[in-house]
Amino acid sequence: MRGERDTDADWNRLGAEDPFWAVITDERFRAGKMDSGTRDAFYQTGFGDIEHFHAVLRQHFNAPDHFEACLDFGAGVGRLLVPLAKRSTRAVGIDIAESMRAMCQKHLIELGVSTVSLVATPKEAATLGLFDWVNSYIVLQHIPPSRGIALIGDLLAMVKPGGFLSLQITTHRDAHLLSQDTAGPLRKLLRRFRDSLFPRHDVGQITMFDYDLDQVLALIRKAGFQNHHLEPTNHGGHHGFMIYAQKGTG
Ligand SMILES: C[S@@+](CC[C@H](N)C(=O)[O-])C[C@H]1O[C@@H](n2cnc3c(N)ncnc32)[C@H](O)[C@@H]1O
Repeated sequence: MRGERDTDADWNRLGAEDPFWAVITDERFRAGKMDSGTRDAFYQTGFGDIEHFHAVLRQHFNAPDHFEACLDFGAGVGRLLVPLAKRSTRAVGIDIAESMRAMCQKHLIELGVSTVSLVATPKEAATLGLFDWVNSYIVLQHIPPSRGIALIGDLLAMVKPGGFLSLQITTHRDAHLLSQDTAGPLRKLLRRFRDSLFPRHDVGQITMFDYDLDQVLALIRKAGFQNHHLEPTNHGGHHGFMIYAQKGTG
């Protein structure tokens, strides 16, 4: 959309400069500070998260222990993709940032994992078949809904009949995180004029976007998912939900 922030450029810069910290903004994971111990601790968090998502899918939808194919949207450096790959015959990671994909590929090679493909977009992933489990965590919150809603539609279409979804979105935030743009109309006009003349000077920011939960749930239902389970999420005052669902077989 015109005038909208280019979050894809932000993530490519973040992946090149501070990939682990950009995924989990904990000072321990800053590029200059990482050693093999903190790297292990970082990747271990992914095993814990996937164990939890899987347990919820088992509890509410009777999900199996092993999947033929898993997909992780916004795979980053592979924190969730590796544990997903351990549970599946093949796995695919989507990430728009070439820098993130490069770091993820390096990690997969180090681990000797050869059942994973990395691609940039859902459209590319769709050429690799359908998936039994499509996951996305702490990703859509960084994509403007004007683009994110269509991406969610692409992801829902890639779930096999009877397959599972775990998809996190943010929906609202605490008052201190609401943007307080007090600029008057003239200042806003001048700002737009400046932005149209000069390329953005602050590429590499982490920005947050809230989604309309009803709109996302309606999309999920329309795509053939009959039942869902919601789990509230709260990351430092950014609130949302992990949406778990199973696609019907009809
Ligand atoms: C906060 S990180 C989370 C990574 C991973 N989901 C995890 O939990 O470890 C967000 C990731 O989403 C990716 N991303 C951002 N916008 C994207 C888009 N439009 N399409 C695909 N990936 C995107 C970023 O490059 C980044 O790797």
